[in-house]
Amino acid sequence: TANDELKAELLEIALDAAHRAGAFLRDGRPEDLGVAATKSSAVDVVTEMDIASEKLITGLLAEARPDDGVLGEEGADIKGSSGVQWVIDPIDGTVNYLYGLPSWAVSIAARKDGETLVGVVHAPMRAETYRAVLGGGAFVGDRPARVRPAPDLGLALVGTGFGYLADRRTRQAEVVGRLIAQVRDIRRGGSAAIDLCDVATGRLDAYYERGLNPWDYAAGDLIAREAGALTGGRPGEPLSPELTVAAPPGLFETLQSRLDELGAWHD
Ligand code: IPD
Ligand code: CA
Ligand code: CA
Ligand code: CA
Repeated sequence: TANDELKAELLEIALDAAHRAGAFLRDGRPEDLGVAATKSSAVDVVTEMDIASEKLITGLLAEARPDDGVLGEEGADIKGSSGVQWVIDPIDGTVNYLYGLPSWAVSIAARKDGETLVGVVHAPMRAETYRAVLGGGAFVGDRPARVRPAPDLGLALVGTGFGYLADRRTRQAEVVGRLIAQVRDIRRGGSAAIDLCDVATGRLDAYYERGLNPWDYAAGDLIAREAGALTGGRPGEPLSPELTVAAPPGLFETLQSRLDELGAWHD
């Protein structure tokens, strides 16, 4: 169908842009990379490479599909006229990238009519590319990605993250402080996009975080769902910047209501 053709085209463009940006970031990372600017707080940083990567990706997208909209973390905000909107995070895991830690990724999603059609998360230092097409399953490289069977919450390895605002972090740490005694263990990987892909491939049982932005989760959300995870926000609500939860059925509901009890989205 026409929609299948569109999805295939968008996937090819997303894979190409993610690989080019990934190679640029991996090979071009300056030895003396520093902070170019700060955003919401002193620890919410941007490097010259975040900006250059977004520029590279938006240029490639504009060349391939000039009428599409684009929303990017570092300021890209193009309305477009085709109905397709790209949602991109030019480096997810900037603090890891700044320090030379390997967990960072390029995240590219394409949406239409409020639905994510395609998601690509490329993690150069893992030499892994995660991708999904709506209704077409999720893959890591050429292998199908599949969630791990749901354990009891008490035996779950749970990923999470912290925002950049001090008050918000204190509250997030309180929730983690309670949850840590009720699960197998907690991981803070530093890239929300990779965390969602780790749920998709069974490297984490579950993931949750408060305060993400659409560019953090757009691609990873589709990849996790196509790999068999459920994703959402507060109980009964879709995933949103307020709360992002991803886990296989069974664990998902338990974690969601536990986070509800712990007031994970209250200030
Ligand atoms: C951040 C990462 C991190 C998460 C933060 C995000 P950035 O994105 O995904 O894991 O905890 O909430 O803002 O700033 O590195 O693109
Ligand atoms: Ca991000
Ligand atoms: Ca980013
Ligand atoms: Ca950022």
